[in-house]
Amino acid sequence: MTVSSAPGKVYLFGEHAVVYGEPAVPCAIERRARVTVERRDDDRVRVNADDLTLDGFTVAWGGESDAPELNVPNNLVEAAMGYLDGAVEQARDAAEAPDAGLDISVESDIPLGAGLGSSAAVVVAAIDAAARELGTELGREALADRAFRVEHDVQDGQASRADTFCSTMGGAVRVQGDDRRQLDEVGNLPFVVGYDGGAGDTGELVAGVRELRDRHPFAADTVEAIGDLVWEGETLLQGEDTPLDELGQLMNFNHGLLSALGVSARSLDSMVWAAREAGAYGAKLTGAGGGGCIVVLDDSEGAKTALDYTPGCEEAFRAELDTDGVRRES
Ligand code: PMV
Repeated sequence: MTVSSAPGKVYLFGEHAVVYGEPAVPCAIERRARVTVERRDDDRVRVNADDLTLDGFTVAWGGESDAPELNVPNNLVEAAMGYLDGAVEQARDAAEAPDAGLDISVESDIPLGAGLGSSAAVVVAAIDAAARELGTELGREALADRAFRVEHDVQDGQASRADTFCSTMGGAVRVQGDDRRQLDEVGNLPFVVGYDGGAGDTGELVAGVRELRDRHPFAADTVEAIGDLVWEGETLLQGEDTPLDELGQLMNFNHGLLSALGVSARSLDSMVWAAREAGAYGAKLTGAGGGGCIVVLDDSEGAKTALDYTPGCEEAFRAELDTDGVRRES
């Protein structure tokens, strides 16, 4: 039996603009998905996922029938199955064991579809654990690349490398098109996450931004302005002492530009304002938007307490920067 875990992430800067070749800086956070894999004697794959903020479901597929046995809403299961199916294919391919059967259990404390990179964390941990169970150890670059291919397929070619690379490597990373690297010597980033309990539709939100950008030159300029801000943020991050106040200002600016592109939501804006009014350095939505999570920079208790009392905020938690990335638990 093998167990691997991988972290979720927040976007410090650059979501949406990254789709058009601008840079982005996602940061891994101390919230993980853990995947346990055990080889079976037959060629079937059985998945048990009790803790994906779904109600809990078990699917079994492979063998004679392609139809899974399941008991939760179809779209959520289809998405989860697509990711796990892709992860199994990648692990089988890496280990040159195309017919290997596997029992897979997934546990995650990352809210689903809420801008925290839950699917990437599950895919990274699943490929790593399954490949090891089949006798192959993948290097981190190869693992990140295989995980990206899975996300890319499941999301119809719309996924950037940000989530999968960040989850594999840990820490703060910089992604621009196919270029990706870890940012060295990033100091502590005191993140707080606010979660409205919902999720945006990434495909729809990305399509909405594309349409605005195609229609209005000023929307295209807004996307470019996000790219400019990321360059500045990345320089600040790698200086001697991280200037949290300046980083926070850039986060506020980034949220404003995302709002202008139509991807914020009332619940996200009200959490952002609650955090700012409580004295945070800065706050912005993270991920596709439309609902889900915001990320706040705050080293006091202020923002977390304010979010705890903000109507529409279902959960607020502190989330330190995770410097490990994928971890082999056993
Ligand atoms: O919501 P998430 O964490 O899947 O992030 C989506 C980020 C986008 O830039 C909108 C799309 C992408 O794949 O980069």
